[in-house]
Amino acid sequence: MELCLVKLGAGSERLALALGGVQEAYGERLQEICGAKAFSAAAESGKLRGKRLLFAVHIPAAGVEAELYEALGLLQDPQRPHTLAGSVGGVIIDGESELYTKDAGRRLIFAANMAGCRFPGKPLVEATGSLRNFKVLARLWQTDLAGAYRQSCRLLADKIMAKPQRSAEHILVIHAGNRATSNSLALWHKVAAALGGRAEIEEISVRNGQIWDCRGCKYEECKHFGEQGNCFYGGVMTEKVYPAILRADVLVLVCPNYNDSVSANIMAFINRLTAVFRAHDVSFSQKQLYAVIVSGYSGGDLVAQQIIGALNINKNFALPPSFALLETANDPGEIEAAAGIDARAAQFAAQIAGAQDCR
Ligand SMILES: Cc1cc2nc3c(=O)[nH]c(=O)nc-3n(C[C@H](O)[C@H](O)[C@H](O)COP(=O)(O)O)c2cc1C
Repeated sequence: MELCLVKLGAGSERLALALGGVQEAYGERLQEICGAKAFSAAAESGKLRGKRLLFAVHIPAAGVEAELYEALGLLQDPQRPHTLAGSVGGVIIDGESELYTKDAGRRLIFAANMAGCRFPGKPLVEATGSLRNFKVLARLWQTDLAGAYRQSCRLLADKIMAKPQRSAEHILVIHAGNRATSNSLALWHKVAAALGGRAEIEEISVRNGQIWDCRGCKYEECKHFGEQGNCFYGGVMTEKVYPAILRADVLVLVCPNYNDSVSANIMAFINRLTAVFRAHDVSFSQKQLYAVIVSGYSGGDLVAQQIIGALNINKNFALPPSFALLETANDPGEIEAAAGIDARAAQFAAQIAGAQDCR
């Protein structure tokens, strides 16, 4: 199988050097698409479906790269859905300043994912202007910052080319909603009903401050707790949630939009995953992440990107195609009246069950 390298933006000498390891390793199996126009032409002719895609984007110091926006415009165009159906991807963002690389990476991953592209855990290599974000990896691999950048690009390419894991036998659902009034929880229950007996479902509520937020222990302390299946605070997180996470093939987060963010209870759950993640990061890469997101008015895309940043880019969960079901409803029960909601819930259930990998 070929690896398709999609280059967007003006490029830089540093990015060219970093991609050298990928070019060396994949040689004739590497196909290059240079520029947004070539990307659009390939996408519109259906040539990017079922492909392994490595996006490499250079962004200037101001953080705004027109070619990236052109590509996002194509991927987010509702008239052209499923442009990347069946593909597997990864993203390299080469920046000139200390800012904007994560934002550019998250936006591209979200847009490509909703267009049908699957992403492995940790699918983003970002290079900030100083490359200081490679300090830890450079020390670990006993190389310099540029060497760590180059090695990270090569490892990402290998990850994209590996066979994706897909199992959905055991689904863990985390929510913090009120059963009587929550639209997001009602929407999840529609998805669960549509799943029928196709998977074993375990639901855990983290409502009412049952989970204290992370205390920020030292790395070694946190890792030590994690290896014992524990965390400084203990409680429901270590007694119930950690074992359930380790059992799960699929994690579904049920997220109302609170101030364009996941709610505080869900954020505390994510932060407190750190200890178990430190001890089991490889096994997290085998778990698929889905989200059910309901906003009263707008902003579900921001919540989806926050979840991608925290759990896919940072915590290594794999991102299956179109990982989020995004709806708008505000008053209690309003989701029930949304046009076509049962069909969309059933479609999402089919994706989770793996019956339909890509629409
Ligand atoms: C504290 C709080 C903050 C909220 N912030 C937003 C917001 O920023 N944008 C928005 O569209 N809806 C916002 N909402 C509305 C919810 O997203 C909406 O009620 C939706 O139905 C999901 O919440 P539910 O699952 O609890 O019903 C907010 C609701 C609450 C209680």
